[in-house]
Amino acid sequence: MRTPIIAGNWKMHNTIAAALELVKGIHYGLPWPGEVEVIVAPPTTAISKVADFLQDSYIQVAGQDLFWEESGAYTGEISGTLLQDAGASAVIIGHSERRQYFHETDATVNKKIKAALALQLMPIVCVGETLAEREAGQVTEVVRTQILEGLAGLTTAEVTDLVIAYEPIWAIGTGKTATPQQAEDVHVIIRHIIAEQFGNDAADAVRILYGGSVKPANSKELLSLPNVDGALVGGASLKAADFIEIIKSVS
Ligand code: 13P
Repeated sequence: MRTPIIAGNWKMHNTIAAALELVKGIHYGLPWPGEVEVIVAPPTTAISKVADFLQDSYIQVAGQDLFWEESGAYTGEISGTLLQDAGASAVIIGHSERRQYFHETDATVNKKIKAALALQLMPIVCVGETLAEREAGQVTEVVRTQILEGLAGLTTAEVTDLVIAYEPIWAIGTGKTATPQQAEDVHVIIRHIIAEQFGNDAADAVRILYGGSVKPANSKELLSLPNVDGALVGGASLKAADFIEIIKSVS
């Protein structure tokens, strides 16, 4: 039984005041979510205040990235230890925006995953293809490489502890959502890759989220798919009412 996850990636949005207002809107607007884990990933500057407010809430807090070293002379970077100190219990790793704008590779994603797991900070590992790769019929190959290289050297137990987010890049922030069939197909492919490499137990246990223009109008259909274990929501997670609707659509 995989407990679903609805995670909101706020990206580079929200001052501390706006972050608190948003998280209060979710917390008071939905006193109990049911059998679903709810996570918000505020910008780093707001994590501490948001986590303080959420201390007695079901809502967990995630970072949007981390650096693999624990401390040291790495100007501008945030370690897992610092994220935890601020109140985070999870961290998004390898988001396509980080791969695209900040030159992250599967090798750095791998180091980040290992650093997060060592601290018991739950990694939410993003994978997904560009439109050109989809049109060239390369979805399986692209996702396979991202997973095999990103998760290289992990044990079965470690793979069970992490979360994968399938985010087709062409569906992020574009209003274009993968069709339920497209999403389910790739989630099945991802589970097969995990099974081949880490065994059936890991494949059965690992949670695979869908991300890319998830909104209240399409969340119910996407979240009812057998291999979709939740959603990583961008734009629609910035409005409490929409995010609550998406949480409620987990059946
Ligand atoms: P949108 O929901 O805005 O398409 O963003 C998805 C995403 O990138 C979540 O990490």
